Amino acid sequence: MNENLNPEITENEEAAAELSLRPTSFSQYIGQTKVKEQLEIFIAAAKMREEALDHVLLFGPPGLGKTTMAFVIANELGVGLKQTSGPAIEKPGDLVAILNELTPGDVLFIDEIHRLPTNVEEVLYSAMEDFYIDIMLGSGDGSRSVHLDLPPFTLVGATTRAGMLSNPLRARFGISAHMEYYTTEELETITKRTAEIFQADIVDDGAHEIALRSRGTPRIANRLLKRVRDFAQIRGDGKINREMTDEALTMLDVDEEGLDYVDQKILRTMIEFYNGGPVGLGTLAVAIAEDVETVEDMYEPYLIQKGFIIRTKQGRIATAKAYEHLGYPAPLL
Ligand code: ADE
Repeated sequence: MNENLNPEITENEEAAAELSLRPTSFSQYIGQTKVKEQLEIFIAAAKMREEALDHVLLFGPPGLGKTTMAFVIANELGVGLKQTSGPAIEKPGDLVAILNELTPGDVLFIDEIHRLPTNVEEVLYSAMEDFYIDIMLGSGDGSRSVHLDLPPFTLVGATTRAGMLSNPLRARFGISAHMEYYTTEELETITKRTAEIFQADIVDDGAHEIALRSRGTPRIANRLLKRVRDFAQIRGDGKINREMTDEALTMLDVDEEGLDYVDQKILRTMIEFYNGGPVGLGTLAVAIAEDVETVEDMYEPYLIQKGFIIRTKQGRIATAKAYEHLGYPAPLL
């Protein structure tokens, strides 16, 4: 049913494990309780009316399960899913080819939807609103417009920031859901679930420590779990407990607050070179040799949420908490 489940991938055990990590129903999906509660109602109503679910926009930082949620939505609706991404659709014809393959009620998942080219986005408007597209065939005098009716479908779009979407596109989503960072408790449950799938030997305080250091993000929790499992296997007896986790994560430069090397570099650069700020995001990105989008989407939201950085009109400022955490004397205010 889900078209990107390439059968070849199952030959690779690790990739197969990744796939089986994905919850397939709301009951298996841990966290995002608000989003789940809303979607459950809208999905039940759409099913009762035998209609396609309204279009859904999922937004939030990377790694919070937007793709997983799209698959769960399709599964709960009992429909197929076709997956693509903004950058993969280069011209209107690419989109037409995808839309043409949809069967009634299907979910079309477009990841990084903010990166759709403008002329592709324009084709999407009528497809979303009234389930048709007008395509131009040929060019010059011989060109003609062809009207193509589409089956009703649900577009699920994912983006790291809703603000990056054009207004006309955003307005066409009937359902908008903000994915939140996960609580430590939720991450602990996810870590244990993944450990069980991997048949890794983990105890509660090990899972708790991984959860604390995963920046509120299941993708990071699962990645850290794999690295700690390697470490425990080689340096210990395979058991993942708090001490083993701490040793492994310290080696990987993931600190007690879950900040990784890049997070720490951002804060140190702000403090050492810009006196704690305010410093513009562009300037900061250049200083640490990362692109602006990466800093803005991946690093900054968590640093803000944890109170290490604040955003002002003049730029970003490192807080007293950042100074203290990295062992600098408190800033003079
Ligand atoms: N694995 C990764 N994210 C998950 C989630 N939200 N629920 C259950 N398992 C997961």
